[in-house]
Amino acid sequence: MTKPAHHIFVCGSFRMNGTPQGVCNKAGSLGLMQYLESELSDRGMADVAVSSTGCLKVCDRGPAMVVYPEGWWYGRVDGEDAIDAIIDSIESGSPAADYIIA
Ligand code: FES
Repeated sequence: MTKPAHHIFVCGSFRMNGTPQGVCNKAGSLGLMQYLESELSDRGMADVAVSSTGCLKVCDRGPAMVVYPEGWWYGRVDGEDAIDAIIDSIESGSPAADYIIA
């Protein structure tokens, strides 16, 4: 496998014992991850990796995701429209203003 050009980390709210708890998980972040993966596949964006993470410590703005190497932190990613905007941002090279955490 070659290194991905972009990596999206999706807060899965995992705690030290591995149990997913917390704002992002309760708001369905891992369910959105499935849509994210399928949409990336549909768009042929095989150079974008997706991983779930522990709490990203921005719970009050969750569900949260981070895109690297851009360093774009996104909050209130609460549906497919938000996911589409984030994928669009990777394609365009400009952050999705409606969801960016400043
Ligand atoms: S639970 Fe997602 S940022 Fe804390």
